[in-house]
Amino acid sequence: MKVSLGLAALGLLAACHEAAAAALTIPLKKTREAPEETLQRLANTRRHVEQKYFGSGSGAQRGAMVEQEVLLNEDGSTGFKVPISNYMNEQYYGEIGIGTPPQKFKVLFDTGSSNLWVPSAECRSSGCFTHSKYDHTQSSSYAKNGTDISLLFGSDSLKGYLSEDTLTVGDITVEAQQFVEATKESGVRFAFGRFDGIFGLGYDTTPVEGMVPPFHNMVNQQLVKEPMFSFYLSDTANGNDGELVHGGYNSEHFDGDLKWAGVRRRGHWEVDLEAVQFGDDEIVMGRTGAAIDTTSSMLVMPTMVANYLNEKIGAKQDFAGRYTVDCATVPSLPSLSLTFGGVKYILDAKDYVLNVEGECISGFTGMDIPEPLGPIWTIGDMFLRKFYTVYDLGNDRIGFALAL
Ligand SMILES: *[C@@H]1O[C@H](CO)[C@@H](O)[C@H](O)[C@H]1NC(C)=O
Repeated sequence: MKVSLGLAALGLLAACHEAAAAALTIPLKKTREAPEETLQRLANTRRHVEQKYFGSGSGAQRGAMVEQEVLLNEDGSTGFKVPISNYMNEQYYGEIGIGTPPQKFKVLFDTGSSNLWVPSAECRSSGCFTHSKYDHTQSSSYAKNGTDISLLFGSDSLKGYLSEDTLTVGDITVEAQQFVEATKESGVRFAFGRFDGIFGLGYDTTPVEGMVPPFHNMVNQQLVKEPMFSFYLSDTANGNDGELVHGGYNSEHFDGDLKWAGVRRRGHWEVDLEAVQFGDDEIVMGRTGAAIDTTSSMLVMPTMVANYLNEKIGAKQDFAGRYTVDCATVPSLPSLSLTFGGVKYILDAKDYVLNVEGECISGFTGMDIPEPLGPIWTIGDMFLRKFYTVYDLGNDRIGFALAL
């Protein structure tokens, strides 16, 4: 049956890359959070994604991609336990070093943005308080740039300036990496969750002020064997950490061969969403993109589709705006299939419904991103826990395989 919704419609490297060995592998830790924090974070997904993908790439809103990462709190609550952490707790973060000797930071590795930024030692904002801060006076490899970076979003802003220093990621040392030292956050109640900054892995078409993103520098400085990186995002259920591999992939973490889908626009890691099927129903869409986003939790899609799917699974909106499902029904709900590069990737209900301490939350989140960028779906961790992904910058394509 066709349903028309009237839409305008890191461990060891793979055998073939083993020369570089484990040095390029970064373990990704998962943060722990209280159930109520998880619920609040999930409720905020829509806003997060909206900020991230709206208008990105256009000159006037260049800053939006970095800034959206911190503007997570809508209610303006204060204190050090700020809601931004609700967003990003239980995200997958890893450690990097900046400077000589290296100053350590926990960062989110984000395929949905392209900048590297960390809090500056000069930051007096409360959001910086509990976090590692970069102090360039303590680094012998620091080079001043000083270009002011002002990242605006609505009435809120993040301010800082460009600096240049040695970056260490695993055993990789990148020379002269430019990044943003964030010195001030105003109108924004943010602490960066349980990590300090963001390590953007997006294309170099979107970063601020012509900065070269760190992975592009690794490729330019010939520090990686292949111009690709790969994510394995563990499931809490099996207790593993995740893994990010720079320069290849780890075939021990997936089953069978990788299947590839071409990047449709160099900006985000975005492929064509060729077909969507829910149970036996094929959802008819116009040309639609799917951004594969390692720092998004849910499956964000056009509102009509989300409403349709939530109705199909009997999800009811609660007082906080979340769509909840009776957990007892989950085993009998239909599967959702997404087609990329001619291959169907199937999510079962246990994948697209999150069970947070006995409360079942639908992952189908509605948001309309207008043309020309949209319509676009954002495919987050719900999908990435099931499928291993390889981001091939050299060939502008994303590889998928069932994660092990
Ligand atoms: C700072 O970096 C930007 C971007 O790479 C560059 O255009 C600019 O010339 C640099 N400025 C200084 C003072 O080094």
